[in-house]
Amino acid sequence: MVTRTSLAIVLAAGEGTRMRSARPKVLHPIAGRALLTHVLGAIADAGVTAAAVVIGPGQDAVAGEIKRASPAAQCFVQQERRGTAHAVLAARAAIEQGADDILIVYGDTPLIRPASLLRLRQVLADGAAVAVLGFRAADSSGYGRLIVTNGELIAIREHADASASERQAALCNGGTMALAGKTALAILERIGNHNRKQEFYLTDAVEIARGMALRAVAVEVEEDEMRGINTKKQLAEAEAVAQQRLRAAALDAGVTLVAPETVHLCADTKFGRDVVVEPYVVFGEKVTVEDGAVIHSFSHITGAHIGKGVSVGPFARLRPGTRLGDGARIGNFVEVKEAVVEAGAKANHLTYLGDASIGANANIGAGTITCNYDGAGKHRTEIGQDAFIGSNSALVAPVKIGQGAYIGSGSVITQDVPDDALALGRSRQVVKQGWATRLRGLKGLGKKKG
Ligand code: UD1
Ligand code: CA
Repeated sequence: MVTRTSLAIVLAAGEGTRMRSARPKVLHPIAGRALLTHVLGAIADAGVTAAAVVIGPGQDAVAGEIKRASPAAQCFVQQERRGTAHAVLAARAAIEQGADDILIVYGDTPLIRPASLLRLRQVLADGAAVAVLGFRAADSSGYGRLIVTNGELIAIREHADASASERQAALCNGGTMALAGKTALAILERIGNHNRKQEFYLTDAVEIARGMALRAVAVEVEEDEMRGINTKKQLAEAEAVAQQRLRAAALDAGVTLVAPETVHLCADTKFGRDVVVEPYVVFGEKVTVEDGAVIHSFSHITGAHIGKGVSVGPFARLRPGTRLGDGARIGNFVEVKEAVVEAGAKANHLTYLGDASIGANANIGAGTITCNYDGAGKHRTEIGQDAFIGSNSALVAPVKIGQGAYIGSGSVITQDVPDDALALGRSRQVVKQGWATRLRGLKGLGKKKG
């Protein structure tokens, strides 16, 4: 099995009109990752050695995502949309490379599991020329039907072309197919367009193979895996399935999710051991959480590395470029962006740390703001280790606060502060004895009695 070479062809030339969106269908995300990218990931996890993606004319954004996610994949353009078999043949040059197994998957079927692709490949290794994934549909309308007799797949009949009794057939066509490389082109070239839609149907491959005395086999999978996305409603349903899978995987890996159904994960979220995630936390792309960290409720986290034993939230916002060292604490209503917070440093309340570096064990008082933007450019704030920033200080970047330095509360700091110095950037307090009494006397008001 491992020695067999393989090519996966992903069909993604559809326009996706029913999404009612300017964005190409296969670029809509679930779990923070484009539909097509999920499919490319499943292919890679199934040990496929080469990938080809068939896209529509002018779909440069799709080509760009393929290059980013799977740089080795080849892109082919299907100039006219003349059916699924026609689309596969747009990748003829890749087929002619002569892989042992050819997998055909739809770019809008993101929940396909690598294990199912491996099962198809196993059927080919066992001698079949065609293998097809089928499922029992809750609502089978619109799907092709797999006609199976005595364990052999006899035909796939499109819903529109199927007889009433064929429509009763238990398994629906999920659209994922595997063809033995040595007979694939011979089969594909024989496919015609003599049907109601005058399209070249890939599904005809089954009857053609049988006509060539080759075997075809159906492999049953769960319906969830075969969910195709055509509408925003189906996108939302697929998101729910993806979230369930990700939560289950996190729980299996030992993460404590106190209320799993309220935690939103990303396909690339990474957790260490003994991480606790409280209810209502959102993880965006590129988040790593190390051992023993606790993420309190209502935190929103994207592009952040969270070190060992860190405490985040409740109500924290971590934006891209955040790196929190071991044991750091980021408390309620604190926003962090492009900032490194070294081990043991704390910003417990009401703070913005942007374009900053915070030294180990520094203490950032409530209400501290790094003023990183002057309307034209972004500037950095550097805070040394063990520094103490008094509450409600504005640090106007670019600015450096030395190690162990103190900033008096309410300061506006515009100049660098040396190590171990005290800086005060606020007006002195004035106290006028008896002033309030005199005011009340002037206005004839008596002092209120409690
Ligand atoms: C197809 C199957 C049907 C199956 C269903 C599962 C055929 C003939 N029918 O029907 O048996 O039950 O999927 O969802 O295969 N595409 C191209 N170029 C084309 C045509 C299609 O790239 O010229 C792509 C589409 O973008 C899509 C996929 O192929 O990703 C399937 O095409 P679609 O038109 O949606 O097929 P269905 O009619 O749904
Ligand atoms: Ca479809």
